[in-house]
Amino acid sequence: AEMCQRQGVKQRLLVVANRLPVSAVRKGEDSWSLEISAGGLVSALLGVKEFETRWIGWAGVNVPDEIGQEALTKALAEKRCIPVFLDEEIVHQYYNGYCNNILWPLFHYLGLPQEDRLATTRSFQSQFAAYEKANQMFADVVNEHYEEGDVVWCHDYHLMFLPKCLKKYNSNMKVGWFLHTPFPSSEIHRTLPSRSELLHSVLAADLVGFHTYDYARHFVSACTRILGLEGTPDGVEYQGKLTRVAAFPIGIDSERFIRALDLSPVQDHVKDLQERFKGRKVMLGVDRLDMIKGIPQKLLAFEKFLEENVYWRDKVVLLQIAVPTRTDVPEYQKLTSQVHEIVGRINGRFGTLTAVPIHHLDRSLDFHALCALYAVTDVALVTSLRDGMNLVSYEFVACQEKKKGVLILSEFAGAAQSLGAGAILVNPWNITEVADAIGKALNMPSAEREKRHKHNFLHVKSHTAQEWAATFVSELNDTVIEAQLRTRQ
Ligand code: G6P
Repeated sequence: AEMCQRQGVKQRLLVVANRLPVSAVRKGEDSWSLEISAGGLVSALLGVKEFETRWIGWAGVNVPDEIGQEALTKALAEKRCIPVFLDEEIVHQYYNGYCNNILWPLFHYLGLPQEDRLATTRSFQSQFAAYEKANQMFADVVNEHYEEGDVVWCHDYHLMFLPKCLKKYNSNMKVGWFLHTPFPSSEIHRTLPSRSELLHSVLAADLVGFHTYDYARHFVSACTRILGLEGTPDGVEYQGKLTRVAAFPIGIDSERFIRALDLSPVQDHVKDLQERFKGRKVMLGVDRLDMIKGIPQKLLAFEKFLEENVYWRDKVVLLQIAVPTRTDVPEYQKLTSQVHEIVGRINGRFGTLTAVPIHHLDRSLDFHALCALYAVTDVALVTSLRDGMNLVSYEFVACQEKKKGVLILSEFAGAAQSLGAGAILVNPWNITEVADAIGKALNMPSAEREKRHKHNFLHVKSHTAQEWAATFVSELNDTVIEAQLRTRQ
């Protein structure tokens, strides 16, 4: 990287993730419209100026015809994106199946699917085969676009097989892999039938990163206990080299949120919301509609709070934004109806002709509306059953300089490691504890709120997504240089 900088050229960074940072909508046989999706990873990498970044990922749509593929490839190239085309069957087996019905719940401690064990075993094998195949297709595209000196950064549980495929093509390729979910205890990971294959593949990378020290520790234990390898404080000894394993906690582009609060459309939203909920405290939940987010448990805790606190019944409102996700996976469909049923019951029990205690939306909000919502909130409820990091908690804190509201945060979210001292930490499975935390948050004196907010705000402001990305990539460059020096000695 240094040499590139001295020569005035930027080092190229190939970011490989299942999803591209743009979503594509087909307008005609050969025309596409593209919309940037401003997720955490995108804003993190937009802020990293020292690299020339290219994105490689699944286009998110089925494009069976060559004309469509060519046109989309061309349109994406303008956004520095390179598509991997996956057909419907592969998406079904790899994305809906292996990624989101097996790895995702397992890594969040929800176990393997068990409805019909025999059927599960059969589909498990074909889904794993599709997972390998899809990862190989990603590897082919990376290999085609790779130039010597590039850094290749693979992301998340969708692409655990990728490091090995890439190193097979070129053992000199600099490969990093980062997991955005928790890595579970080795006792959970060892239940996975393909546990060893995945570990071997990830270990082919030069640098392996996680959000927290605990996840890194669990990964190293899985390698030592399941594969019998040697763990060191820096990583895992693997095939005569050291695979570096470390924690890199992600952050957000906090300035983007702070700046947005001064924009007039955001201030207009703020006024509307304040008017609408005058005389009531606002509680907020923003989650993808996913079982790991603990939405039913959160609603039950709110119900218990209302049951026990007659005084608060007409003085508090819970706004729950539940963004639909992975809607082809049956578990997610079941969750949607379960949540609707609970919301209906609570509103039926505690609503009046003019007001309901819960406003539930099954959709996402635009960025301005979201910032306004964060800014008017008195208490945010982030009660995931497990969560890699959870950046909603960061976004809320960034928007609270005026209000200094309270964050109730699950101890099972990665963010509890960084925002724990400012938040009220809860065990989301303990409905009574969460109900009590709601009472404590609503009644908290302003001096204590200020103290807690200050702690979290400083953290969110100083640990940004951009810094996270830059640190990972420079560490990856260093790791490779150190390894080269060691082999020369
Ligand atoms: C999590 C994962 C990401 C994923 C996102 C949205 O944050 O770690 O890799 O992109 O959820 O899920 P989706 O399945 O819609 O990409």
